[in-house]
This record gives sequence, structure tokens and C-alpha cells, in this order.
Amino acid sequence: MNILGIETSCDETAAAVVCDANVASERVRSNIVFSQISEHIEYGGVVPEIAARAHLHYIRPTIERALTEAGITLAEIDAIAVTSGPGLIGGVLVGVMAAKAMAMAHKKPFLGINHLEGHALTVRLTHDTPFPYLLLLVSGGHCQFVAVEGLSRYTVFGRTLDDAAGEAFDKVAKMMDAGYPGGPAVERLALTGRAEQYALTRPLIGRKGCDFSFSGLKTSVRTLLQKGIVITDQDKADLAASFQKVVGDHIVDRTKNALTCVDERYQHLVVAGGVAANNYLRGRLNELAMEKGRTFVAPPMELCTDNAAMIAWAGLERFKAGLVSDLNISPRPRWPLEALAG
Ligand code: KG4
Ligand code: ZN
Repeated sequence: MNILGIETSCDETAAAVVCDANVASERVRSNIVFSQISEHIEYGGVVPEIAARAHLHYIRPTIERALTEAGITLAEIDAIAVTSGPGLIGGVLVGVMAAKAMAMAHKKPFLGINHLEGHALTVRLTHDTPFPYLLLLVSGGHCQFVAVEGLSRYTVFGRTLDDAAGEAFDKVAKMMDAGYPGGPAVERLALTGRAEQYALTRPLIGRKGCDFSFSGLKTSVRTLLQKGIVITDQDKADLAASFQKVVGDHIVDRTKNALTCVDERYQHLVVAGGVAANNYLRGRLNELAMEKGRTFVAPPMELCTDNAAMIAWAGLERFKAGLVSDLNISPRPRWPLEALAG
């Protein structure tokens, strides 16, 4: 079985072909990601109108390349899966319309996929991770714990009270003039920094529960920068490392609490979403999982940030479960994971 996946919910135009091979490493037949970084770099963030136009421009060649690299024709595709929310609505519309048109013209089953479900199921594509598992979903727009019981059976039980983790990385990078996109830029800077150099606000210290907060930490970075004491390249690296360390401490503290909220069937701790590409944070979560006797699972870096292989895979799981979508579904700018139940 071969599924074509399409992803256009943010600033990546992506298409992929995924199959149901028994061996996980043989499943991704192609995974094309056209990143629009150069189109948004001068604004220091994603501009929705520019993103939508760029998706329109790149979607057709991206899909064609995904099919060519997989060595397959559209006729041999079993179903078409596309992100139908949540995300920047202009981009989501472009992907959904393209997928619907192809599904209609070629009489293929059509699957509207929740982008977050794509992130949530990626470890099943890459590691065959069995249900249930505890998922920490950390991306540019989301920061939450999810008890993943099964396909479409998600319970979200921790959220961010303000910014998402990726948003905090992006804003701090912008303040420091570190580059765009912010997450990888801060991680790179932090490599040569001393994490104990700056005392930054530590979010929700000693507070029970699994919620996150990053705004106080972000403000403390801004305050330090405004004082004018972060001058040299070494200072910048130190600040990036100090920030990243506090983010790591906060995520570990919250995850410790989250592990006490799920029962003993939850043996796997999974991280997904763009921020899961951060090596330092992966290391911290891996240490925590070992300490708590759980197995840590993270997708390979290229499948943490937005991609269409994860959408194709979610489509494959849903298709096998008989959950095909109607061609008249509407793209959704907001679409919580929990709404998938039932
Ligand atoms: O999942 P994703 O590609 O898009 C959303 O669905 O939001 O996540 C993008 C976010 C951005 O905020 C980006 O800065 C962050 O993930 N990110 C990282 C790293 N790579 C990407 N954050 C920290 N460290 C990284 N290496
Ligand atoms: Zn994402």
C-alpha cells in the first residue's frame, strides 16, 4: 500500500510517499520538503500571505518530485492524505484543494489529516512504537502532553499558559539577532556557551501539574539584552546556552510530573514536533526516561520538523482503519487533537 502525503500548514511545502513495508526503514519511499526560509528571512518570522503564495507556486513540482523519487505514478497510489488543519489557513487551503483535485480526478480515497496527529504518530512510522504512550508535543505552535491511547484517542493534559516552546526559541533568537529559524540558531550558538553564566527566570518552579510557561523566561532574556551587558560572541553563546538549559530544566520538571499522571501501561516516553529536533533537549529527556525506567523514543531529526511523510503515515493508519474523509471537509485553522475522538 502506497500513500501520497501533502503538508502545507506553515512554511514548508512538502510531499512524500510512504508505504506499509514490514521493515520500518523501508517505509519512507520519498520525503520532499521545500523550506520557504529564504522567503521569510527578512521578516524574522513566517508571513502567512507570502507562505500561501509560495505554497501555490511550489506545490505541484514538490508533489511531482515526491512521486518521481519514489519511482511511482499517481495511478499506483492507494490514497491521498493532506494536512487539513490546524495551521495557517491560506497554506492549508492550497494543500487541501490540490489533494481534493487529484483525489477527484484520479478517483482515489481522500484523507484529511490533523497536523498534530501526524507528529503524534511519527514514531510508529519510524520505530513501531506500540500504543499507549506518553507524548510530549513541542513545536512552534504547540507545547502539550498527550496520552496517546490509540488512533484518534488522545487526551491532552498539560498545556502552555503562554508561548509554545518553539515560539520562545524563535523570539529569543530574534531578540539576539541569532538568525532564522530561531530554534536551530539558538541550539548552534549554545554549543559553545556556558549554561551557568546567566541567571534567568525559572518558570513555574515547584508548581504542581504539567503546564508550561515561557514568557517570564523570555522577558528575563530581553531584560538582560536591554542592560547592554551581552556584548561579545561568547556572551551571546553563554546567553543561548543559559536559555536552553532553563528550557531543558522546565521541560524535564514538567515531564516528571506528566509521568505520574499516566498508568504503568505507558512504558514509552515520546517526543515529537520541531523542538524535538534539539539534541540537547533530546538528551535531557532520554536521561529522565532512563531514570524513570521508561523507553525514550524520538523520530529522526528530519521527521521532527514539518514534513509530509508523517502526514502520509497518519493517512496510512487511518486508511487501514477505514477512516476515509469526505471530499467536502473544510480546512480548519484550529483543530485540537481531542476533537478527533468519536
Ligand atoms: O513542528 P514544526 O516544524 O512546525 C510547527 O508545527 O510548529 O516546529 C517548528 C518549531 C520552530 O519554532 C523552530 O524554531 C523549532 O520548531 N525548532 C527547534 C529546533 N528545530 C526547530 N527548536 C529548538 N531546537 C531546534 N534544533
Ligand atoms: Zn508541526
